[in-house]
Amino acid sequence: MNDLISIARQFIIEGTIVSVKPFGSGHINDSFLVKTLPEAAPDYVLQRINHTIFRNIPDLTDNILKVTQHIRQQLHASESISDTFQVIRLIQAHSGSFFIHDEEGNFWRLYNHVRGSKSYDIVANPDLAYEGGKAFGIFQYLTSGIDASSLHEILPDFHNIAKRISTFRETVLRNPAGRLNEVINEIAFVEARSEQMHAIMRLGEQGYIPVRVTHNDTKFNNILFNQDNKAISIVDLDTVMPGYVLYDFGDAIRTGSNMAAEDEADLAKVNIDLHLFEAYSKGYLGIARKFLHPAEISHLAFSAKFMTYIIGLRFLTDHLVGDRYFKIGFPGHNLQRARAQFKLLERMEEQFFPMQEIIRKQAMN
Ligand SMILES: Nc1ncnc2c1ncn2[C@@H]1O[C@H](COP(=O)(O)OP(=O)(O)O)[C@@H](O)[C@H]1O
Ligand SMILES: [Mg+2]
Repeated sequence: MNDLISIARQFIIEGTIVSVKPFGSGHINDSFLVKTLPEAAPDYVLQRINHTIFRNIPDLTDNILKVTQHIRQQLHASESISDTFQVIRLIQAHSGSFFIHDEEGNFWRLYNHVRGSKSYDIVANPDLAYEGGKAFGIFQYLTSGIDASSLHEILPDFHNIAKRISTFRETVLRNPAGRLNEVINEIAFVEARSEQMHAIMRLGEQGYIPVRVTHNDTKFNNILFNQDNKAISIVDLDTVMPGYVLYDFGDAIRTGSNMAAEDEADLAKVNIDLHLFEAYSKGYLGIARKFLHPAEISHLAFSAKFMTYIIGLRFLTDHLVGDRYFKIGFPGHNLQRARAQFKLLERMEEQFFPMQEIIRKQAMN
């Protein structure tokens, strides 16, 4: 703890530190809650940034500063879109930098802790889903004035479906881990859908959908709620970069509307919860229909299928190369994850008509 305190002290903080404790249930960075006294002084969130995933911390920090400063200006300037929405603030170090590079090679940063906030790992009910959708709608609205091309592409080609499919096909041909025989059905599943899954990329290339600021980790526990269960902020801004908003919407649905775990072994449990889907879409479109283009709105339901496909494809590819990227808990874990995603995609295909109707209705309201 002493080490952590001395790291926190390298930032310009208010108050006196009384404790530093592990915090949150994120899977990427290591987060610690820094408590201070007196009561009036803010608490802080200290994070050791995962520099194996994020290779360029200065670029990443640059993106976060640009986006948070812009949102702060918007919140001050405009007829406020929300009375309660807040933006987290990166705290400057005494050195003038917004991160610290320690002797062991670790990168550290500090945010103000949003007072009285909490987050949920699981979307427990439609009210929370509605709030979550609204929060990401507000986030996109408040960042829509930023020229997305001024942001660094933190994870290049992250959603590039053409590349993901060609990597998959090369891996199938090489069969490096000798696991091909057990995935014949899954390969057929991927190939049967590979053409249609280029849709978003093509819309972008043809100029029907704009490149915007996107979050790229729209998991539910990256939304902060207040004690009345109103969503008040969005955190985890490491992957903010230029992209298509469809990816953010689709991934929120993939992770937030699945009735089972991402790696559920019992495929009978996997399904999309249309109540959660409707509530999230309602919250989101209540804000986003003001600025989304028609081709974005008409592909929202499809984006949920797309994100489920591409992550399933990445799990399957990782299984075939011998589990290099995603950490596994047991042999075959990545295959189990891929199968659960493909089952979820099948369920979405079965219910695609009602999903589209829900979007159409919410877009017109
Ligand atoms: N500034 C903040 N104020 C309050 N809670 C926060 C703040 N930043 C992060 N958290 C909490 O800590 C958790 C982990 O932080 P996050 O930045 O999402 O890291 P990871 O990349 O590891 O997911 C979040 O899910 C949220 O609950
Ligand atoms: Mg997180």
